[in-house]
Amino acid sequence: MEKLSTAQIRERYLAFFERYGHTRVPSTSLVVADDPTLLFVNSGMVPFKDVFLGVEKRPYTRAVTAQKCLRVSGKHNDLDEVGPSPRHQTFFEMLGNFSFGDYFKAGAIEMAWQLLTEEFKLPVERLWLTVFEGDDEVPADDEAANLWIAQGVDPARVLRFGRKDNLWVMGDSGPCGPNSEITVYTGDDMSKMRAAGVNSDDPDYVEIWNNVFMQYERATMQKLPAQSVDTGMGLERMAMVMQGVRSNYDTDAFVRIIARIMAELAATSCITGRSLRPIVLWPITAALLRS
Ligand code: ALA
Repeated sequence: MEKLSTAQIRERYLAFFERYGHTRVPSTSLVVADDPTLLFVNSGMVPFKDVFLGVEKRPYTRAVTAQKCLRVSGKHNDLDEVGPSPRHQTFFEMLGNFSFGDYFKAGAIEMAWQLLTEEFKLPVERLWLTVFEGDDEVPADDEAANLWIAQGVDPARVLRFGRKDNLWVMGDSGPCGPNSEITVYTGDDMSKMRAAGVNSDDPDYVEIWNNVFMQYERATMQKLPAQSVDTGMGLERMAMVMQGVRSNYDTDAFVRIIARIMAELAATSCITGRSLRPIVLWPITAALLRS
């Protein structure tokens, strides 16, 4: 695995999907315009919500973005995680490729596998996949499981989970669908890797990417006019994995800022590593909210 900088990972992701016909669309502001159901952009798909719902048309059916996101309210709220968790930031960048009624599960999974194993060269033996196990409203996603297996994934590495992990919703309304997540085992000891670690509290398992197969409107659970794809990769988490460090805050995006704050504050305060995390994030978020 190459040791890529955060900027290199962002650019490689965007360029990879551009090669597959995706239009590179700039990130929008963090503040959501014209949507009373949401205060801040909490995911890369938010600027495309109406395109998924079929009420807005764009001049492209494939898009790729590095979207600024903030998870501090509503369905996706990471406020209490910042500080104690080395992997949560509230403000972060989400890399995403989108299909609006263009490719669906097969295309998404094929490109995802190629990006992970050929472009980013992640070690295949450390990757785990999850799919929706099904319930009385939404069927089990055997199709996605079989598509991963068709890429060469060991069937024992494809796990099934319920709504909490594998049915993605933006909020109480809006587009939603079953999703498939990719987790990397980052532990030193491969003999300790096990299925039970995925979606557990074990810090050796890092969820890096979510591929959502958009099919329903959440409030009504009516089928959307077209089947679409929405994906989200945590840029800073991917940097953590690729740089071989244990925390987002130990990646190149943060280390210099944190070192500077520590140098300036250490003599006069009792601030520790953990409480520096929100301090680092706050000015970035405040500046973005004003922009
Ligand atoms: N919208 C999906 C997520 O945020 C990709 O996980």
